Amino acid sequence: PLVLILNGPNLNLLGQRQPEIYGRETLDDVARDCAALGAELGLDTDLRQSNHEGQIIDWIHEARRTAQGIIINPGAFTHTSVAILDALHAFDGPVIEVHISNVHKRESFRHHSYVSLRADGVIVGCGVQGYQLALRRLAALIA
Ligand code: DQA
Repeated sequence: PLVLILNGPNLNLLGQRQPEIYGRETLDDVARDCAALGAELGLDTDLRQSNHEGQIIDWIHEARRTAQGIIINPGAFTHTSVAILDALHAFDGPVIEVHISNVHKRESFRHHSYVSLRADGVIVGCGVQGYQLALRRLAALIA
């Protein structure tokens, strides 16, 4: 089974931008750690990042044919994108939403998530370890 791990805007700068909030690990580190854990759990992983909403939507459509589960950190699109929500509604498998920071401790505009209306689980404020927790949850759901 394949898990698509989608990341939205500015997450290409993970490790460099606001490290006091998001930590020092890079998205390449996350991809490597997820691939290793996936191998243990019997899941293939494919981690992607885009700063463009339409690209993320196209990848969710592609997942309809290729992936059994989705982990998504939509970045700021979490709080704005009905279009990403709609795309996720067209995907039949389990979806876990991840936020590296505790969005509930931050500005009130980060407290609402469109994506949570579709997500089967949400992992918030666990740092980049949240991706691993999400992968373990998907392994349980997909098995
Ligand atoms: C984020 C939280 C969002 O509010 C923010 O816009 C991000 C990252 C997180 O992982 O904590 O870009 O999704």
